[in-house]
Amino acid sequence: MHINFVIYFKIHVNLSKLVKSVGAIYIKPCKEFIMVLRLEGVKKSFRNSEELVPVLQGVSFDLEAGHTLALRGESGSGKSTLLHIAGALEAADAGRVWVSGKELSQLDDGARAQLRRTDIALVFQQFNLIPSLTVAANIAFQSALSGTPDLGHIKQIVSSLGLLEQMQKYPEALSGGQQQRVAIARAIAAKPKLMLADEPTGNLDEATAENVLDQMLKLVAQTGTALMIVTHSKNIAARMNRQLHLCNGFLV
Ligand SMILES: Nc1ncnc2c1ncn2[C@@H]1O[C@H](COP(=O)(O)OP(=O)(O)OP(=O)(O)O)[C@@H](O)[C@H]1O
Ligand SMILES: [Mg+2]
Repeated sequence: MHINFVIYFKIHVNLSKLVKSVGAIYIKPCKEFIMVLRLEGVKKSFRNSEELVPVLQGVSFDLEAGHTLALRGESGSGKSTLLHIAGALEAADAGRVWVSGKELSQLDDGARAQLRRTDIALVFQQFNLIPSLTVAANIAFQSALSGTPDLGHIKQIVSSLGLLEQMQKYPEALSGGQQQRVAIARAIAAKPKLMLADEPTGNLDEATAENVLDQMLKLVAQTGTALMIVTHSKNIAARMNRQLHLCNGFLV
């Protein structure tokens, strides 16, 4: 007990000295880096036979590290489009998007792909599992791309999401809800700075959906991930720090 206290005290005092000596220099960059996602005046239209149909007409918002945001809106209102733009998968027609302080339009394809690997995890509406890989390989895949997989962390997620018995199966042998949980496990395992989840509980019963959300919020609390969820569920939206509604191309 005494030794623990001495060690704690020494570390604490040394850290205090370090913080005081470098604090003045580093406070500003740290504050700026807290903003994980920023959209400013984002517009997007799609061509529908002859006419150009506007989907996003000037969308702006910020999402900080460790914060959570629910995006709601009618089917076809542009929620997935917005998520794909925030996840650097699709380019906006106008406006600017920053992820981890980097403006996406200023990055070349290689740098954008690198940012997606290291900082962003997307849970797609259609899951996007790799059919030729087992569940275990699917889950470890993104973590392996972004660095060294944390096997202890992965094991804990797999167990918490009830996927232990599915690890050696291929995606085609899983139910829709099981595939959805694998996609979520893959995203959580990567410990991203930004997690974008498109209706991540759409195929799950209420209890499983609550559990999935608990795991996501645990990640947010433990690692400061910024989380944005598209959901139709009022219960899930109510557990986020903030709710935004997409309506006629604008956030309300
Ligand atoms: N690649 C595309 N080409 C043409 N139109 C598209 C494309 N992607 C989306 N759209 C159109 O943009 C609109 C918004 O689509 P989006 O998928 O973003 O809606 P959503 O809010 O996610 O809907 P849902 O709740 O049903 O998933 C729709 O009218 C859709 O048809
Ligand atoms: Mg959608």
